[in-house]
Amino acid sequence: MKRALLIVATVLAVFGIFGCAQGGGEIKIGGVGPVTGEAATFGVSTKMGCQMAVDEWNAAGGLLGKQIKLIYADDKGEPAEGATVWNKLIQQDKVVAIVGTVMSKVSLAGAPISQAAGIPMISPTSTNTKVTEVGDYIFRACFIDPFQGTVGAKFAWDDLGARKAAAIFDVGNDYTKGLSEAFRDKFLALGGEMVAFEAHPTGATDFKAQLTKIVQAMPDVVYVSDYYNDVALIAKQIRELGYTGPLVGGDGWDSPELTAIGGAAVENGFFTNHYSKDDTRPVVKEFVAKFKAKFGSEPDALATLAYDAMYLMLTGIKQAGSTEGAKIKDALAGISLDVVSGRVQFDASRNPVKSAVIIEIKGGQQVYRTTVNP
Ligand code: PHE
Repeated sequence: MKRALLIVATVLAVFGIFGCAQGGGEIKIGGVGPVTGEAATFGVSTKMGCQMAVDEWNAAGGLLGKQIKLIYADDKGEPAEGATVWNKLIQQDKVVAIVGTVMSKVSLAGAPISQAAGIPMISPTSTNTKVTEVGDYIFRACFIDPFQGTVGAKFAWDDLGARKAAAIFDVGNDYTKGLSEAFRDKFLALGGEMVAFEAHPTGATDFKAQLTKIVQAMPDVVYVSDYYNDVALIAKQIRELGYTGPLVGGDGWDSPELTAIGGAAVENGFFTNHYSKDDTRPVVKEFVAKFKAKFGSEPDALATLAYDAMYLMLTGIKQAGSTEGAKIKDALAGISLDVVSGRVQFDASRNPVKSAVIIEIKGGQQVYRTTVNP
């Protein structure tokens, strides 16, 4: 009788561990990024960063005694597709947390789904303020656009000596609109003049109407807050219209495609970013070397922030000692961790306070200029 009980107990224990434990000894984490669509390099880089962090943790013994499984989904850079993959990851794949996504407008579609389901999310790179305002399960690993726009405006004013500025942005994109507004507000506060502030429709390829107005207003600097594809086209068209002055923009410029498409037109271009691979801090050097050895390419900001965001999420789960969403979000809220892109500690709105770098496009290369602290 005792023996029979022991067998029953053993069977129960074994099932408890291997049967009921989620996914049979695995912890599933969702990853999301645009692997296809208007900003495809963003999603590819993000995936590499997520995978690298997961592989490192698995090699070091996993998480809470289990292996971690990354389930990565393509949001195509579209909000509707973002909502679809968020639902799939949570309901079908049963992930316990999500690292994603890149574009603010798509994170804004995923965040309410995470919040309602109680599945914590860290966006590596969505910088629009509204993203983390969705609720207490939503975090980000990057600075926000009011800071990024301020850094751009100060750079234009101080370093470029600009006194008259113009801006162009995508009217259907929360990120580019918010970022241009942040630039404008700071530039005006510094005493500058905004001589043009032009919206273009989403998906446009001909920007001549807006750019003609901008060029006629004779700005000292033009702020372009779009993603790299649009930036390259805008640069080409504004150069054709005879503008030779500086172009300044934000993190959306960060892609090898910028110079591939934009060529000479994006020279005399500067943008704010989260990180530079040329940063001399030892942690950056070590990360860049490890990344190159694994993937054969250099990590851009997207890859680095995704790696950092995944590290933060896995550390949050470890500190929570649980895969329960409510416990993970509480652990994340109190975290303080040095990651590749800097120290992360969340403020009351679940945004980390971090520095920005300024990068110059020179000879077709991204050249690190300076780091700006908040
Ligand atoms: N910050 C952009 C957004 O919020 C996304 C992005 C981040 C693009 C980093 C490039 C590099 O939409």
